[in-house]
Amino acid sequence: MASRLSTRLLLSARPRLIVAPQTRFLSSTPIRRSDALAVHRNTPENNPSIPFKFTEQNLRLVDEVLKRYPPQYKKAAVMPILDIGQRQHGFCSISVMNEVARMLEMPPMRVYEVATFYTMYNRDPVGKYHIQVCTTTPCMLCNSDAVMKAVEDKLGITQGHTTPDGVFTFSEVECLGACANAPMVQINDDYYEDLTYDSMCQLLDALAASASSEQIKLDENMWDRPIEGKDAKKPSSIPAPGPLSGRKSCENSAGLTNLTSAKWGPEVTRKDL
Ligand code: FES
Repeated sequence: MASRLSTRLLLSARPRLIVAPQTRFLSSTPIRRSDALAVHRNTPENNPSIPFKFTEQNLRLVDEVLKRYPPQYKKAAVMPILDIGQRQHGFCSISVMNEVARMLEMPPMRVYEVATFYTMYNRDPVGKYHIQVCTTTPCMLCNSDAVMKAVEDKLGITQGHTTPDGVFTFSEVECLGACANAPMVQINDDYYEDLTYDSMCQLLDALAASASSEQIKLDENMWDRPIEGKDAKKPSSIPAPGPLSGRKSCENSAGLTNLTSAKWGPEVTRKDL
């Protein structure tokens, strides 16, 4: 009892710690007020008051697409029809999306959801040549950085921008499915592969020369372009799409390493054929 008492006396005699009032610091993620992917803001070239109608030729294409779907599921055709609209108008404007929604009897928001999810829909005007550089891992390991640098050096813009003359738009994209020919870019509908800094510069020079010879005008009619067919003719100075390294496809650049012996089989053993 005595020892307990003395302990209490000792404790009470100790100078009291002054405890500062506790402050809890709350942290939160900073708010980002701009989001290019999900926000539409009206601009002179992209607002709902700009009328959009499919041309006669494209309406026939739309009908062809719709024939592939049961009438009650025609909204399933939203992606190819948005693509037709984008090719006609030059980009997937809000008027294009609204017209597609009207044709397919869908709420416009459902069409906006599709167009904002897939990066192949350009929701802002793009230049005559849309340069999409793949920088996903296989291309990055094969030096897509050099391709990016070539575009920046040649065009003087960074990704996400269009040159002041409206000829080139530069985008960085994820894998385009041509990893065996990395690094590669997509330019409009064409793939250019096995690129280096130099070959990318030469390609851009050829495109710029072709564009200047066509005297592009940046007026509103620029976007009323006809659909370009797969086999649309390219000026001869522009390299043919595909690998620019001399390969024909994605074959081994060191040549054949197997299947090198003489053929055998029916074509050899059956002399009667
Ligand atoms: S990683 Fe570039 S095409 Fe696949």
